[in-house]
Amino acid sequence: MPKTIRLTRYDKVLKIELNRPEELNALNKEVLKEILEHVVSLDADPDLACIILTGNMKAFAAGADIKEMCDKSSKEMREGRYFSDWELFANMQTPKIAAVNGYALGGGCELAMMCDYILAGESAKFGQPEIKLGVIAGIGGTQRMTKLIGRAKSMDMHLTGRMMGAEEALNCGLIARIFPDEELVENALGIAEIISQYSKPALTMITNAIHKSDNLTLEQGLKYERSLFYSLFDTHDQKEGMKAFIEKRKPTFNGT
Ligand code: CAA
Repeated sequence: MPKTIRLTRYDKVLKIELNRPEELNALNKEVLKEILEHVVSLDADPDLACIILTGNMKAFAAGADIKEMCDKSSKEMREGRYFSDWELFANMQTPKIAAVNGYALGGGCELAMMCDYILAGESAKFGQPEIKLGVIAGIGGTQRMTKLIGRAKSMDMHLTGRMMGAEEALNCGLIARIFPDEELVENALGIAEIISQYSKPALTMITNAIHKSDNLTLEQGLKYERSLFYSLFDTHDQKEGMKAFIEKRKPTFNGT
């Protein structure tokens, strides 16, 4: 049984709650180990269609665990490949939604940005305050935030270490939607429920193609998207989805 995360399965949806409330869900090695063991391992499960990652009302996660890192040398950090396996979570094909209440700072903000998109409670606070600790972001903050909100704003966040609220995060494209704090998780689960009714091959192709757009030219991206689109025409779910539309009934997708 994992200790630093709590997992709840609702049919095709998995809710992950970060569970180190005393440390504001600071991300230590154990959290990563349990995410790899209990979550990343489920990526191939055809019955898992969507993941919701959340924290508690005070904190989604207040960053990487400063107490765990503080006395390490550069050699230890490098040889321990500190943080690098978080990319295995980021690269999961199953759609992942971060539902952020409270603080999402440093590694916490980076973890939210590793998800396919972010929903937030109205009191959520995002930031990359590593500069205040004499370091820089180390789990993708300078890269993912810049792609999401642009260079000027990303520079401002990283160089000043300030926090931004949910409204500002919505306006600059860091997050997709805002809900009242108490209703956030319920709404996130409702959205996951909608997503989970669709065809998993098509869902994973959407997340894959959108992420690929970071690294491809428009021309390459259009070609890539078209090849994925064509490949879906050999699936049961494409035939079922289109036939159901014509026959004016609800489709039954089976993930093949
Ligand atoms: N690591 C370890 N412990 C943390 C932590 C973190 N990132 N954030 C909070 N905690 C601990 C505190 O030390 C405190 O523990 P004690 O009770 O043992 O003292 C407990 O959680 C509660 O925190 P506070 O008393 O500080 O709570 P607060 O409400 O006064 O302040 C806060 C909340 C503004 C979020 C403040 O805790 C804070 O600034 N946290 C650190 C934020 C930060 O710098 N994050 C970046 C970390 S480095 C990083 O993430 C690098 C990277 O990119 C990979």
